[in-house]
Amino acid sequence: MATLARPIYELAKKLAFRYTRLGVPAYPYIVEPIELATLVSELDRVKDVPGSIIEVGVAWGQTTRFICEHLVTSGRCSERYCAIDTFESFCPKDVEFEIKHRGKTREQVSGFGYLDFEVWKRNFREFKFLTAYKADCSTFDYSLVAPIKLAFLDVDLYLATLNALRQIYARLAEGGVILVDDVMRPSRWDGAYQAYEEFCIESGLPLQLIGNKMGMIRK
Ligand SMILES: C[S@@+](CC[C@H](N)C(=O)[O-])C[C@H]1O[C@@H](n2cnc3c(N)ncnc32)[C@H](O)[C@@H]1O
Repeated sequence: MATLARPIYELAKKLAFRYTRLGVPAYPYIVEPIELATLVSELDRVKDVPGSIIEVGVAWGQTTRFICEHLVTSGRCSERYCAIDTFESFCPKDVEFEIKHRGKTREQVSGFGYLDFEVWKRNFREFKFLTAYKADCSTFDYSLVAPIKLAFLDVDLYLATLNALRQIYARLAEGGVILVDDVMRPSRWDGAYQAYEEFCIESGLPLQLIGNKMGMIRK
């Protein structure tokens, strides 16, 4: 920065911080701090387990960016990280199920229509270890990313969560883990809670809740 520009820049920063709301720190994540902490500790625990890290349901990628940052800062750029999303909101069949069988309104179970696959990939192009897949998580071919050592599953609705859980668990490495967001009820996204609970019961697995809305499944 030129010698004269620096003091002007510092003055502008001082004014902005003191007299506007521009300096108010924001929390950009839609997951709780304890979920981020658990993601990091589980990523470190499975460091030497062979397999991919997957995030199913990525939205605009805040948690994806957080995980990328952790992998980079821990020198783990040769690991495989896969981001799976429709990149065009919820699947109509999953929404209809919430309305017909789970008492939700269409307004309650809509969102993420702003996404665009090409823009999303462009936003993450610096992370060469990250591959994005545009797919419905209920029908995605998980053999493409198997074995899986850590899955962060965050697709909100009952059918999508249950279908993904069944397929991911079948391809989960020994020692691997699935972390499910929105395991909380009652809530707008309590389909995730119902799916997590049913899957654990049908598979004879213990329910392990972390914070207010994360469910864990280890193999
Ligand atoms: C709550 S957001 C994910 C937030 C993200 N994990 C984060 O922490 O910032 C839910 C995402 O799930 C995606 N999604 C919903 N149903 C899906 C499905 N059947 N298959 C793939 N992605 C789906 C939506 O497009 C949306 O991007």
